Amino acid sequence: MKKISVAGTGYVGLVTGVCMAENGHDVTCVDIDEAKVETMRKGISPIYEAGLEELMQKNIAAGRLHFTTDYQAAYKNAEAVFIGVGTPERADGSADMSFIATVARQVAESIEQDCLVVVKSTVPVGTNDKVEQFINDFLINAVRVEVASNPEFLAQGSAVKNTLEADRIVIGTESEWAEKVLTEIYQPFGIPIVSVNRRSAEMIKYASNDFLALKISYMNDIANLCEKVGADIQDVAEGMSYDDRIGSKFLNAGIGYGGSCFPKDTKALEYIAKQNGYELRTVKAAIDVNNAQKTRLFHKASDRLITFNGLKVAVLGLTFKPGTDDLREAPSLENIPLLLDEGADIYAYDPVGADNFAKLHPKGAHGQGNITYVSKPEEALQDANVCFVFTEWGEIKAISPKQFTELMRTPLVYDGRNLYDVDTMTNERVEYYSVGRSVSAGTKKGVESV
Ligand code: UGA
Repeated sequence: MKKISVAGTGYVGLVTGVCMAENGHDVTCVDIDEAKVETMRKGISPIYEAGLEELMQKNIAAGRLHFTTDYQAAYKNAEAVFIGVGTPERADGSADMSFIATVARQVAESIEQDCLVVVKSTVPVGTNDKVEQFINDFLINAVRVEVASNPEFLAQGSAVKNTLEADRIVIGTESEWAEKVLTEIYQPFGIPIVSVNRRSAEMIKYASNDFLALKISYMNDIANLCEKVGADIQDVAEGMSYDDRIGSKFLNAGIGYGGSCFPKDTKALEYIAKQNGYELRTVKAAIDVNNAQKTRLFHKASDRLITFNGLKVAVLGLTFKPGTDDLREAPSLENIPLLLDEGADIYAYDPVGADNFAKLHPKGAHGQGNITYVSKPEEALQDANVCFVFTEWGEIKAISPKQFTELMRTPLVYDGRNLYDVDTMTNERVEYYSVGRSVSAGTKKGVESV
């Protein structure tokens, strides 16, 4: 059992802290926000993540999990400090390191015993060398501090499961001591550990995320071509998936990838390459395809409808994926302002993300347009002229094709997640556009002629 402190209580920091405590370590999570810390002390999670609150409560009760704003007290006797603060994207695509630098300095000025600083945040290759130097520059006491890279591979919505049952743990260290400390910390997890040098660990994170982003963009590119040549992307994906070398995961074409990771990490690696005089053409292509994919259905609908002005538009799904309340880089964030600019009367449904979305786009008028949040998909669909599907929540998948015909004024559906069977939509006379599949002609009764 080790005494561990975790800096930052976002997705990465909080889940790391809780899972470390679950594996028997004595963990203190540090955050600057007093109100948030107070809430977490009560066992309430500030983020929506399956299983997280239960584990918080269990480990708080067992006395292994603590929350504080007092970083000095948390760091001074820690054997390891995990850094899980954000590295947001700057305007030029580079990663903003200011949060990491703040924590690094706090650690340097607080620690009173040998300590391994473990960076979980995604950082440009070579950053951890600088973090180690930075900490040593600011050290007050004569103690040993080293920095290890330990990239995070959890996906939102399944963060706890991904951490406790990870495929692998990557540790990047520069000394036997650092490797030993980190191996001991992870030993109770019982997961294969890949031990490499620090720069390789940093690169593994980017290379993994960008590969997955590339896989999605590739499928989206192929899907767009499928539409033109009369092939079906889901059949194509199935046919590909039996090849072990390709695998069956991350082959879903749709409205493009969002979230806090793929968009940021693709741009960051492209930037790193550029800084090093290299053009990373594959990753650039993934970014370009994704940018176009996000609004592709909107443009198709625009062509079909002439205008959205005064139309009731049902929007199903706001978050970037199901199982999370996170809206970062969600396709809804690009499409809804476009619809509002055109004067659409939007009725938006999301089982979890509506409150967060309403903070950005409060209910009511926005220029010519208007947005209302509803608590059931049926309310959004009632008398709607057109429907957009942006997220594959179970509640949205559960809508039967018949409901579109029964509820909507004109059953015209643009589905960014390929949720419904094209033939069934055709039988129910829904005019249905999805991604990489044939179009269901519906009744062909134009909205503008209703
Ligand atoms: C991603 C990675 O999956 C994690 O391994 C990684 O640790 C994490 O980023 C991170 O760097 O922190 P996350 O962004 O939470 O996790 O979500 P994913 O489930 O990977 O989905 C990302 C986006 O890709 C979503 O918008 C999703 O809709 C889209 N996607 C995913 C597709 O469009 N098609 C697919 O087949 C799969």
